[in-house]
This record gives sequence, C-alpha cells and structure tokens, in this order.
Amino acid sequence: MDKAVIFYFSGTGNTWWVTKKIAESLKSREISTDIHSIENISLEEADTLISMSKYVGFGYPIYGSDLPETMKNFMSNLQPVDQKNTFLFCTQWLFSGDGTRNGASFIKDKGFFVRWSEHFFMPNNISITNSVFSRFYTNDGTKHKKRLTHSLNRANILADKISNSITSKRGYGVLPVLFGLIQRFPYRIMFPKLRNDISINYTRCILCERCVNNCPVDNLEIVQGEVSARGQCILCLRCYNFCPVGAVQYKGKDFDRERGRPYQGPVQIFQPEFLTKSHNNHIN
Ligand SMILES: Cc1cc2nc3c(=O)[nH]c(=O)nc-3n(C[C@H](O)[C@H](O)[C@H](O)COP(=O)(O)O)c2cc1C
Repeated sequence: MDKAVIFYFSGTGNTWWVTKKIAESLKSREISTDIHSIENISLEEADTLISMSKYVGFGYPIYGSDLPETMKNFMSNLQPVDQKNTFLFCTQWLFSGDGTRNGASFIKDKGFFVRWSEHFFMPNNISITNSVFSRFYTNDGTKHKKRLTHSLNRANILADKISNSITSKRGYGVLPVLFGLIQRFPYRIMFPKLRNDISINYTRCILCERCVNNCPVDNLEIVQGEVSARGQCILCLRCYNFCPVGAVQYKGKDFDRERGRPYQGPVQIFQPEFLTKSHNNHIN
C-alpha cells in the first residue's frame, strides 16, 4: 500500500473536516494516509513522515488569499526532499484566488513537486460582531449541507486524480492569480493592525482558560488573574468562536449572543482540542 501524509492547520474545524475527507477517500483508493494538525507535530517528526511517504499534502484556511502565519512558518522550515509528489488545498468561504499557488511558494525549491491543488467551499467562520462578513455566517448545521456535499465531492475527485496520477491544479490561472494578488496585497498591509484587536470582557469571562489552552500560537496567557494577549494573533478566530460564554472581544465588541453561538465547525462533534492534542491521526 502506498503512503500519504497530510499536514494541516485549521482554526475552527473546516480544514480539519476536509483533511479527514481527503484522507478517507485516499484510503478507499489503497493509499494509507496519516493526518497531522501542525499544532501537535514537530518539524523533525514531519520531515521523518515525509521521507516515509509517497505523497505529501498541505491544507489550510484562506485568509485574504493568504495563508495563516503558522502554516507559512511550518512549510518554510521543512527540510528539502527528493522530488516528492505533493498536493495543496485550502478551504474558503467565497474565494481563495491563487491560495494554493501562493502556498506552494513556501516550499518551492525544496523538491516538493506540486501536482495537485484544490480549493474547497466551506461555511464562513467569521462571526465577529459588526463585521460585514459575519452577516453571512450561520451555525445552523442544516444550512451547511450543500457546501459539505460539494466539498466531499471535490475531495473524492482530488483523491481520484492523485491515485490515478492525473495532474490537476486549481488557483494557477491568470484570473485567480490576479484576484489573489489584489486581495492579498491590502490584507498583508492591514494584518499587523488586525492581529492586535483581541480583548476580553471580564464581566463575562469565567477564566476557564479554554482560549489560552487552544490558541495555536500561544498568543494568550494568564497574567495576574486576567487573560492577556501578546500581539501574536493569526486571526484564526478559535478563541472568539469557542469561548463558552462569548467573553472574547474583537475590536472591543462582544459576540452578539442574540445570534445563538458563533461558528463552531462544520459538524457538531468538532472541538478545537482535536487540533491541539493528538487525535485520530491515522486513516487506514
Ligand atoms: C481572517 C480571516 C480571513 C478570511 N478571508 C477569507 C477570504 O479571503 N476568502 C474566503 O473565501 N474566506 C475567507 N475567510 C473564511 C475562511 O477561510 C473559511 O471559513 C475557512 O474554511 C475556515 O477554515 P477553518 O475552520 O479550518 O479555520 C477568512 C476567515 C478569516 C478568519
């Protein structure tokens, strides 16, 4: 049986779900697949797994046609390989531009031979109060079904192409590259400001430390009995969306509890702890 390994980052569960579906689909095509959240694997372990695998995959959510900073760092710091068959995928609410082509730039010249790339439409995870984008989020699982079915179909097609060695790359055309650049340029300029806007409403906070324990970049810490941010936020929204009492604020605004809950992943069973602790890594 051939082996594949997929490394992914997921802020709020969408990329986790897509990664699992691709892995299951590869497995049904006789490709045994390990999946790893980059939050609980070292670079050394990743390099070893890559050396043992025929196929390597990387998955991440798209942020303004760009990658989460953690994924950029992870990919940039991998060791060079000898012509590895590689696939990239990103999850999006509306549009990724050249999101996978951009990701490939972080492993270029290292021997990763990108033969497949795919973009997956998933639910919008932006639930922050007063953001124009949050108008379009819903936590009603029944409304996610169409997107999940479409993404499942794309996962199967991707696995099919990988197993049959048919090269296929989305996000490399002239228009995706152009629109990707148009979106990424302002996003990168705004990012340093956007990443410093997390705060806590202490009239709501119960100091359960879920935000601290599950932050992928250790941005949050408890200082003198209060949650404090170090200014390293990557905007994944995990702390905001999974706070059990809606105490995490963005731009000083509370989550509007009249809307029910923030976005908490594509399936009810999802918990951010799946990404920070070793969990279900092997699909065979
Ligand atoms: C800071 C930020 C920027 C985003 N930018 C885009 C975008 O440019 N295009 C898009 O379609 N979705 C965008 N989204 C939505 C997410 O990419 C999408 O919901 C993704 O599937 C979330 O994946 P995750 O649950 O694995 O974190 C953005 C989300 C965040 C938090």
